[in-house]
Amino acid sequence: MADSTDSAAAQKAPRATANRSTTPVSDNFKDYISGNWAGRPDVTPEPREQASFAAVRRAALSQKFPGKRLIVPAGAAKVRSNDTDYAYRAHSAFAHLTGWGSDAVAGSVLVLEPTANAHDATLYFREAAGRDSDEFYANPEVGEFWTGPRPSLAHVAADLGIATRNLAEFTDVVERVDASTLVVRDGDRDVTDQIDGRRLLAADTESLETDGDADLARELSESRLVKDSYEIDQMRRAVAATKQGFDDVIGDLPAIVAHERGERLVEGTFNRRARAEGNQVGYDTIAASGQHACILHWTRNDGPVIPGDLILLDAGIELDSLYTADITRTLPIAGTFTEVQRRVYEAVRESADAAFAIVRPGIRFREIHAEAMKVIAAKTAEWGLLPVSAEESLQPEQQYHRRYMVHGTSHHLGIDVHDCAQARRELYLEGILEPGMVFTIEPGLYFQPDDLTVPEEYRGIGVRIEDNILVTESGAENLSIGIPRTADDVEAWLAG
Ligand code: GLY
Ligand code: MN
Ligand code: MN
Repeated sequence: MADSTDSAAAQKAPRATANRSTTPVSDNFKDYISGNWAGRPDVTPEPREQASFAAVRRAALSQKFPGKRLIVPAGAAKVRSNDTDYAYRAHSAFAHLTGWGSDAVAGSVLVLEPTANAHDATLYFREAAGRDSDEFYANPEVGEFWTGPRPSLAHVAADLGIATRNLAEFTDVVERVDASTLVVRDGDRDVTDQIDGRRLLAADTESLETDGDADLARELSESRLVKDSYEIDQMRRAVAATKQGFDDVIGDLPAIVAHERGERLVEGTFNRRARAEGNQVGYDTIAASGQHACILHWTRNDGPVIPGDLILLDAGIELDSLYTADITRTLPIAGTFTEVQRRVYEAVRESADAAFAIVRPGIRFREIHAEAMKVIAAKTAEWGLLPVSAEESLQPEQQYHRRYMVHGTSHHLGIDVHDCAQARRELYLEGILEPGMVFTIEPGLYFQPDDLTVPEEYRGIGVRIEDNILVTESGAENLSIGIPRTADDVEAWLAG
């Protein structure tokens, strides 16, 4: 489709391609296209379910930053190439604080303006332009003729329970910016540049102090460590949708095996379910068959899927709320494990089970990894792969078993697949578990095809089992327990 870059609005677009525009510029055309449009009824919606939860989150943030103006951009669309963009996804902190997920309007900005003892929240977004402007037909980036209708200010205000203003009025906020303003720096580079410029002016200095911005980013991450009931419900739904995606892949195995790039069919089958049930995948699907399973983040997915090998499928569906599952299952493509595949698989499962068994409020997050590693060290020692005993290998200065599992066992999970990424180490790895935390347990064993430390029969085998875990008042719940995970259950799943 050619875009339409002869008009004034399109001429202003940064990626205008005037060399192929056919849009008429005559006054007759402009008059004709701007008239005779029926009015659009704007039904005021009830607030969406997450609106009240987002309000609680904003109130908690307000208490942490008294007197500070807080700016949380949703971010602009990201360029994939020239004038094509990636599918839009709002910044996670923005989604968390507004409840606006897959339907968020690109370029929006949440502003928390300090009041005497709290903050007033206002959401600035690009309201639909009228049909009397040429934006709607001549601007391929945001025009409604090109990218679809946008909601009104009143609609979003009711839907999200936040005061709204047109994005054009965000310039008033920028003019008020002073040293008390903090911004989520990685939300939107243009917004950050504007805020930085004003803060430099206000401080009459050439070097900017951004420690406060870092405090804000840290707090926004740490505030997501414990999920509320809406979030836990979304995680359950994301896992349920992801199970459907895994079932789809198993159902398609005959076609997958028949195709020379079977891994791509695995990805396509899973991703189709993600688009059908949710927003998209929460991260690029890892469809790693045969020795590709030894590559931790294999996402090229261009290999065959061959009976006799294992396929490691690490995939998660992100819902419209942007919460995502992160599940791995490793499947014997022929339907049954070989003896050595089963040995490795069950060792990984034992490791996962041992880690899960200790999860309860009050333990430290890092203890989960330590527990998983006891099994990994014991098994690799038992198989004669380590130059020392399991006990010695587990000493911090040794760690030979980690050759076969170089990654960690757990990460927090939620609106980001690697959630809470800017939380302090003392609250993350060293943190104490609390009810409402959601994280993965995902041990693995990966015997590279050219690893001379392992007998030949192990080489090229990669196994990971990844579950999504909720800390409860009394212990833990494996949210993904319904996706078969013992070797016997996996074989029965494939047979069914
Ligand atoms: N899917 C990436 C991970 O498991 O962390
Ligand atoms: Mn993971
Ligand atoms: Mn994963």
